[in-house]
Amino acid sequence: MSPESAVREPQTRTRQTGQPQARTPQGRERRPRTASNPRREILLLKTAIWVTGLAPILWLAVAFFQRDLGVNPVEKIIHIQGRWTLVFLLAAMAVTPIRRLTGWNRIIQVRRLVGLFAFFHACVHFLSYAGMEQLFALEYILADVVDRRYITAGFAALVLLVPLAVTSTRGWIRRLGKRWQRLHRLAYVAAGLGVLHYYWKVKGDTFWPLLAALTLAGLFAVRLAYRRKRKRR
Ligand code: HEM
Repeated sequence: MSPESAVREPQTRTRQTGQPQARTPQGRERRPRTASNPRREILLLKTAIWVTGLAPILWLAVAFFQRDLGVNPVEKIIHIQGRWTLVFLLAAMAVTPIRRLTGWNRIIQVRRLVGLFAFFHACVHFLSYAGMEQLFALEYILADVVDRRYITAGFAALVLLVPLAVTSTRGWIRRLGKRWQRLHRLAYVAAGLGVLHYYWKVKGDTFWPLLAALTLAGLFAVRLAYRRKRKRR
């Protein structure tokens, strides 16, 4: 027996084409190496999300210990965290509209991860404020939540994100059934409050909060348009 024939791959025929299908030496089907290998596509996307999600924290930690965060490092940390919270929140809200507009259904597989990174950044943002600005003094934090409207809005957004993060698992999706979708519409309220928090915070230059508001409104409009279309059918 030649060495080639000793390792020759066993073959079966594909159902669609009747062409011989390659198998691995262990007998598993070998996937065609096309650009749109679904598993690979999602794995790459998830890797990119993990890197983008963790990079700001690592960067902040390194810059903090190198004393490279300017004259007010605490403010800078809170600002950068706040911005990333909003970016991830809007990205999570964008998943369904992207799916509707492009028909790229697999993108839904990364929605949970993006949403959890939004929650993670919101928690780090809040903890940075609570720990570095208020030294975890509960009475000062509560006074801020009551007295400063931008803190009230941010805090309300964070509170709303808690049930969404908790119920993002498969078990909860199954348990809640249709109620899950209704509950997760709260993400729009949380994102709206996050944008309002940003707008009230910046005072002067409102370009970025208004852009965030416009983005959120656009995403909401796509969702509404799709719902109307589906009802008419
Ligand atoms: C979904 C929730 C939240 C989002 C999306 C969010 C987003 C933001 C954004 C974008 C900024 C402004 C960054 C800049 O000026 O460039 C900010 C600032 C700030 N946020 Fe939040 N935030 C959230 C929750 C919270 C919570 C829960 C707190 C505290 C209770 C909080 C406290 C602050 C503070 C104190 C600042 C200003 C820091 C300073 O100027 O010293 N945020 N946030």
